[in-house]
Amino acid sequence: MSSIVELIAKQAQATFSRSIPEESFLENLTKLIKNVNKVRASDLKLNKDTLRTINSDNDDKRLAPVTYIEVAENKTFSMGIFLLRSGARIPLHDHPGMHGVLKVIQGTVKITSYSAVSKVPSEIKLPQDIYNRVKGVQKERLIPVEKHSSGNVTEKDEPCVLKPKEGNFHEICAVGGTAAFLDILAPPYDMDERDCHYYVPLETNKTDSEVKCWLLRTTPPSDFWCESADYTGPKVSL
Ligand SMILES: [Fe+2]
Repeated sequence: MSSIVELIAKQAQATFSRSIPEESFLENLTKLIKNVNKVRASDLKLNKDTLRTINSDNDDKRLAPVTYIEVAENKTFSMGIFLLRSGARIPLHDHPGMHGVLKVIQGTVKITSYSAVSKVPSEIKLPQDIYNRVKGVQKERLIPVEKHSSGNVTEKDEPCVLKPKEGNFHEICAVGGTAAFLDILAPPYDMDERDCHYYVPLETNKTDSEVKCWLLRTTPPSDFWCESADYTGPKVSL
């Protein structure tokens, strides 16, 4: 019998494969979310040494704040586990043209997400306070967004879903200790076509502004880096 991990991988393949008719996409995505919701940390058989490092109180600044364990990846999707040390965060970033399903399997994370507003950015008036904070050419790169209410997510919560136009930007912080989540992205990141970008949010004080928040693209924050660890869970063959 297939493990829940393999079932999820197969369902991700079925959901995001281009050969699947579009009419069945939503049905498949719902099935995927249902399967992902069942996964527990114990199903993934995380390596004890990796967990020990993540859970240690060691304040050594050389230790990566985030560890990534790749479970499966092909041209259709990527599936992996992110482990966040206490107080660590994955800074605000995007998922260009991608879908994502995220399920917390340990601890608590605070997720703050944003959606780009559907109006063309040049048609939206930039408030003076934001204008003053952003230098020259960067003004043209600002992305007007809607900020969604941020909240804490634990293993008891349903998976969080992001879509190409909905909740496509997010920041994830470990709250009150270490945290881990399973992450499925489709299609996967790709340095040429779908690279990950980082942002800082700029909120206006102008109450009459049509849009309240803009994202300014920035370089990857220096306090964030990710180390990889080996996957030691059930075999996944697609
Ligand atoms: Fe993400």
